[in-house]
Amino acid sequence: MKDVDQARGELVIQTIAMPKDTNRHGDIFGGWLVAQMDLGSAILASKIAKARVVTVAIEQMSFLQPVHVGDTVACYARLEKVGRTSMRIPVEVWVNRFMSDEEVRVTSAVFIYVAIDENGKPIPVQRR
Ligand SMILES: CC(C)(COP(=O)(O)OP(=O)(O)OC[C@H]1O[C@@H](n2cnc3c(N)ncnc32)[C@H](O)[C@@H]1OP(=O)(O)O)[C@@H](O)C(=O)NCCC(=O)NCCS
Repeated sequence: MKDVDQARGELVIQTIAMPKDTNRHGDIFGGWLVAQMDLGSAILASKIAKARVVTVAIEQMSFLQPVHVGDTVACYARLEKVGRTSMRIPVEVWVNRFMSDEEVRVTSAVFIYVAIDENGKPIPVQRR
C-alpha cells in the first residue's frame, strides 16, 4: 500500500538496508541514510552542472520513520533552484518494507551543491 503522497523527483539511488548499516540496537543509522541522500543528489547535481560539485549545506533534515534491515531504500531528488554557482536539491527517501507492499517516506532534506573547478573554486552553473 502506498503512502497518500507520491515520491517527488527522479530516482537517483536504490539500495537495500543491510545489518552492517545498523547501530548496536539493530536500527539503521541516520548517518548511513544521509550518505545515500548525498550520493544520490550529487549524481543529479553533477549531471546538471556538468562539473565537479561539493555539498555546501544540508537543510531541513527530517527523519520521519525508522528504516529496518531488509527495506529497499530509494532516494528521489529534484532541482528546485539554480543560483549563480549553487543548486538547491530537495531529496526524499522512500522505503519499500521487506516482504510487503508498504511504501513509506522515511526522510526528507534539502541538499545544496556548489559547482567547482579543479582548484575547488566556485564556477557558474550554466542554465539550460
Ligand atoms: C563550497 C565552497 C567551494 C564555497 O566556497 P565559497 O568561497 O564559500 O563560495 P561563495 O561564498 O561564493 O558561495 C558559493 C555559493 O554557495 C552558496 N552557499 C555558501 N554557503 C552556503 C550555505 N551555508 N548554505 C547555502 N548556500 C551556501 C552561496 O550562496 C553561493 O551561491 P550562488 O553562487 O548560487 O549565489 C567552499 O565553502 C567549500 O569548499 N566547502 C567545503 C565543501 C565540502 O568539502 N563538502 C563536503 C563536506 S565533507
